[in-house]
Amino acid sequence: MTPEELRALIRTIPDFPEPGIQFRDITTLIGHQQGLKASVQHLAERAAAVGAEAIAGMEARGFIFGAAVAVQLGLGFLPVRKPGKLPIETIGVDYALEYGTDRLEIDPGAVGKGQKVVIVDDLIATGGTALAAAELLRMAGASVQNALFVIDLPDLGGAGKLRDAGIAVDCLMEFE
Ligand code: PRP
Ligand code: ADE
Repeated sequence: MTPEELRALIRTIPDFPEPGIQFRDITTLIGHQQGLKASVQHLAERAAAVGAEAIAGMEARGFIFGAAVAVQLGLGFLPVRKPGKLPIETIGVDYALEYGTDRLEIDPGAVGKGQKVVIVDDLIATGGTALAAAELLRMAGASVQNALFVIDLPDLGGAGKLRDAGIAVDCLMEFE
């Protein structure tokens, strides 16, 4: 399936989780056998092309695509977690979302020094989540130069913020 065909599998729900937000829901994409497979294949090709040595994904939706891409490429997967989930001493950063605020944490010992880690998530909106993940992975010693997303919401400017932080952004589709 082409990225354009995959785009037709995304469901849009108005006013979720709060008024004014057009929620771009991947449930319908990942529930489609060929849709899930093709999305992962497109992301994996792009991760391989930039020389990924490990894949990092953000809880929760980034785990779906990130872990699948890692398996496809035979790489390890680094979970970037919501707070209080990891059973060891973590490093963490707080960040703002299109709706609300949150915090991400990682196990600093899970990252190899200078390891080329590619970030994978379902969607980039303001870029707050991906920037926080990149900051954490860099604090732990990773080289973070690329981030891949299924969906970009270009009106929210996240991809530009990542590029300003020296991270190349590649997305399978956009929604205004
Ligand atoms: C969503 C999405 C991205 C993030 C994008 O996750 O999966 O990670 O928002 O927004 P941003 O670019 O403005 O930071 P959410 O925090 O809603 O959590 P979930 O994956 O647990 O649904
Ligand atoms: N995460 C942040 N903004 C979002 C949106 N508009 N739809 C789905 N997930 C999101």
